[in-house]
Amino acid sequence: MSTMTGQVALVTGATSGIGRAVATDLARRGATVIVVGRDPYKARDAQAAIRLGTGNDTVVAEAADLASQAEIRAMAARVRARFPRLHLLVNNAGGISMERRLTVDRIETTLAVNHLAPYLLTRLLTDALVAAAPARVVTVASEMHRLARVDLDDLQGVPRYDAVRAYSLTKALNILFTIELARRLEGTGVVANAVHPGGVDTGIWRGVRGWRRWPILAMRPFLASPERGAEGPLMLAVDPAYAGVTGRYFNRRKESRPAPAARDPETAARLWEISATLAPQSAPDGGPGDGTSDAALANLSAFSKRSRPIRSTTPER
Ligand SMILES: NC(=O)c1ccc[n+]([C@@H]2O[C@H](COP(=O)([O-])OP(=O)(O)OC[C@H]3O[C@@H](n4cnc5c(N)ncnc54)[C@H](OP(=O)(O)O)[C@@H]3O)[C@@H](O)[C@H]2O)c1
Repeated sequence: MSTMTGQVALVTGATSGIGRAVATDLARRGATVIVVGRDPYKARDAQAAIRLGTGNDTVVAEAADLASQAEIRAMAARVRARFPRLHLLVNNAGGISMERRLTVDRIETTLAVNHLAPYLLTRLLTDALVAAAPARVVTVASEMHRLARVDLDDLQGVPRYDAVRAYSLTKALNILFTIELARRLEGTGVVANAVHPGGVDTGIWRGVRGWRRWPILAMRPFLASPERGAEGPLMLAVDPAYAGVTGRYFNRRKESRPAPAARDPETAARLWEISATLAPQSAPDGGPGDGTSDAALANLSAFSKRSRPIRSTTPER
């Protein structure tokens, strides 16, 4: 087992499922692990359990609802202040919103949590990653990206929202984001890769209702444990053989060619620009939504007319 003593790692969605298994393994290797959870109590519970289970008392808890750009910015600022050097960022948190809901930033929730959150968090922590280089970014995508129709002019499910379509789209965006991130990080010593963890028995499909639930129930006996699901992300995070590998997609522990729509470099570059508008690094002072520029709001106007914003969002589980 390769050691991570002296290294700092941040794992989002570390309160359960694959993220929790990844964080536990990293702690076992001696890393200082920042366990990020949406709920501060759950984050502290995970911190305590991981400390107890691994004997590593450098596990720390951070809370941020990744559906809120203000919370992402505040959490990233706290992390940067405490840890100016970050060796590993695991963008794992994700969910599926069964209904179309808008976040406080007036963005469709699945897009906000699954794509814009890792985009914004990675940008806000890039200086810390570069300062720690060699460093790595691992983003948890999915084979479901192959179902996606990638239309960058309709990232928010306008005019018709479909939960599976929204989820698959964000998983394709995870791969496109990784391709462009790797390109932009060339020469910095920071590598970035995306990974499908396999079909894993976690709570992610808890909110799925109706006939869509049947295939999930039928699949359940064949799903892997969170620990098995963590193997692919961990390989990319710690295995010395992957220290110089960047901009790739893996299906568990094997490199895989993404669907054509998820590997086009021009689409990846355009997605980066759109994401920068939807999730700017600094919040516009006193602007509406606390984090979305006027231009982004203009782009969202058609969507907003059809959807009622809600104060806070919880992807259905
Ligand atoms: N399970 C699979 O078969 C499978 C297959 C392919 C890809 N994946 C990907 O694997 C990743 C991890 O999912 P999982 O299967 O381990 O599911 P999970 O057990 O439901 O874990 C998801 C984690 O993300 C967190 N999260 C969700 N929304 C959040 C928000 N708004 N703010 C902060 N944290 C939030 C959850 O926090 P709470 O505990 O507070 O809800 C939880 O810790 C996801 O990106 C998913 O797309 C999973």
